[in-house]
This record gives sequence, structure tokens and C-alpha cells, in this order.
Amino acid sequence: MTTVQRTSLVDRYNPAVAIDHIKEEIELDAFALSDLELIGNGGFSPLTGFMNLANYESVCENMRLQDGEPWSIPITLPIPFEHAARLALGDEAKLVYQGEVYGVIQIDSIYEPDKQKEAKLVYQTEDDQHPGVAKLFERSPIYIGGSIVVTKRVEHDRFAVYYLDPSETRAIFKEKGWQSIVGFQTRNPVHRAHEYIQKAALETVDGLFLNPLVGETKKGDIPAGLRMESYEVLLERYYPKNRVHLSVFPAAMRYAGPREAIFHAIVRRNYGCTHFIVGRDHAGVGDYYGTYDAQKIFAHFPNDELGIKPIFFEHSFYCKACENMASPKTCPHGAEDHVILSGTKVREMLQNKELPPKEFSRKEVVEVLMRGADEQGDNE
Ligand code: ADX
Repeated sequence: MTTVQRTSLVDRYNPAVAIDHIKEEIELDAFALSDLELIGNGGFSPLTGFMNLANYESVCENMRLQDGEPWSIPITLPIPFEHAARLALGDEAKLVYQGEVYGVIQIDSIYEPDKQKEAKLVYQTEDDQHPGVAKLFERSPIYIGGSIVVTKRVEHDRFAVYYLDPSETRAIFKEKGWQSIVGFQTRNPVHRAHEYIQKAALETVDGLFLNPLVGETKKGDIPAGLRMESYEVLLERYYPKNRVHLSVFPAAMRYAGPREAIFHAIVRRNYGCTHFIVGRDHAGVGDYYGTYDAQKIFAHFPNDELGIKPIFFEHSFYCKACENMASPKTCPHGAEDHVILSGTKVREMLQNKELPPKEFSRKEVVEVLMRGADEQGDNE
């Protein structure tokens, strides 16, 4: 059985560290700020900073850090050419976002990545229609590597109570007496299929950690604030309070499908989970990845190497003939009986003020999403 808290957590937060003498500044984008936050609070353990060239290459090519530890997504700090020309190895630089200093980096690597290669290896495509690839190319061309110290915590909005460090979620799980905890990643409202697989997994473990990603997402995805409201109403009405814990994952979405599934699992291990749900097309977008590629990739890490066990689910839906939630594994009926809607279709329905059916999404969730669609309409 996978045991809890086997990985020690990195803690790079030190507000007392002296930084006033440092002249050099590196401007972060929102993406890098969220990475900084997660390196600082141990969410990205064992990382202690942004990747140097050796780790970057090793992660791109082998899904491992140079020392062999599994890690599937490059965590990089891109800066412009002109700026890189002013920096030298051994320099320290303040890490600044919108005029505020959040930390400091000890520079030990300055390199020009081969982004075509990164795209091919990490995203399996160089197509700039892919939102993760587009983001990769849009960001600056030179990467800076080195360990960091976080000197200021990122402040959050009305959902601040849901921003917990991995040390805090581990403590909560311990206090609740949960030995086995299943983590659930999502960038969507929780629809009936999500609820079905979460509860199916929860039948076999002590607790469910609902951990929606709330960092940067692509245009068209439902905004995090609205999703948070939908999680609150759903948990209130349909989930046992003593078996579920909700807190957020502040990372940016990469849309890297299989590679991101591994990354998502490793991070949830750090938050204290023993199990992690991987359903159909996890972290996928469009049709860049096969429906179950994000499950197959776990075969690269046998023998509990990740420190967290994936739980796989087939494509789930409501079946009118079964009068139940089901999947191809449990349902003998044909597509005509299955209630399946794409994200695009749901957004279209909401914009046209049509209600998605209750077999697809609970009415409380639909009400929140409808209100969001109205507000978005008002702002256009
Ligand atoms: S993701 O990009 O965060 O993976 P989403 O929020 O849609 O997107 O999915 C959250 C998790 O639920 C992922 O593990 C995904 O594979 C799974 N999932 C989503 N919809 C279904 C479904 N209909 N059947 C089975 N698994 C699903």
C-alpha cells in the first residue's frame, strides 16, 4: 500500500533574507509567478528553483531530473535576449511581478533552449494552435536556472482560504486520520462524470482531495472564480463533509496531456495524496492526444516510483438505458443512450441560455455557470 508523506518537502520561503543590496531584477510573468509560488511552498518538491540546462534537457528527454527522480514538465524562467546579455553566472537577481519583489534567484545557468525540441518532446506537437505550445513560443527566448528563495507570499482574493501549502494539506489529512487520499485535478466545473469517478474512487480510500487548478488557463476555459463557486455549492449539497477536502492548485495549465498527468500526480503526492485520478484525455486539448495516452504513460514509472498510485477511469457518462452513470467498462448500451456533451457544446448552450441536462451537470452547478455566462455577456 502506498504510504503517506514519504517525500520530504522543500521549503524555500524566507521573508527575512537580505535582498536590498541586489541591484539586478528579473520581471516575472503570471506563469512564472505561479511556478515561483509552488517551488517556494514545496508543491514542486524536490525542485529548489528554476531548472538549469542539465535538468531541463534531462526532463525534456527522459522525464527525469538529472539525478534520476521522475519529473515530466520543464519548470523554466524565460527572459529576453537583451536582459540575458547583462547577466552572469553567480549573479543574484530579485524576482519581480508588477513592481513587487517576490523572491530572489541565484543564477547558475543561462541558456537558449531549443523550443521546437521542447514542444515536440513535452507536447508531442510543434503546432502553435496548441495552447501550451503557443504559450511556450510566446514566452521569452532565454532561460535562467538557479535556486530561489521566496521573500513574499502571493496574496489571493476571496478564495484565499483555499490556498494551502502542501505542509498544511498533509497536516489536515493527518488530523482527519486519513491514511489513503485520492487527489483530483480539474480545470472545469465538476460535472456528473467527474463526480462519478471521484465518488467511485472515494469508495476505496479514506478521503478525496478536490484540487482544482486555478492558475493561468486558455481563453474559453471557465474562469477559476466561477468554478470555485460551483465547487462550493456542489460540495455543500452532494458530498460528505468529513470525506472531502477542497483547496486549490495555483499552477498554470500546460495542456500537455500525458506529460502533465505525471506532473499533476507528482505534485498531488507532495500535497499528501496516496492516489490520483486519471480519466479520459487528462490535461488534453483538442485531439492532440489519444483518449487514454495520459494513463499509458504511467507505465514508464513502475514499482511505485512516483510515490503515488494512479487510478484510471474510462470515459464516463450518464446512460439512459442503465438509468445510471456508467462507462464502456460497465454499460452494454449504445451511444444513442449516452448523454455526452463536449466543453464547447456546454459553453454554447450556456451562452444561448439553454440548460445542459441534469444528467450531465447538477442544477446547482448549472445555475452558477449560467450566472457566469450572463456576467461575461454583460462585459462584452
Ligand atoms: S483536466 O485538463 O484538468 O484534466 P478536466 O477538468 O475535464 O480536465 O478533467 C479532470 C479529470 O477528470 C481528468 O483526470 C480527466 O481525465 C477526468 N475526466 C473528465 N471528464 C471525464 C469523463 N467524462 N470520463 C472520465 N474521466 C473524465
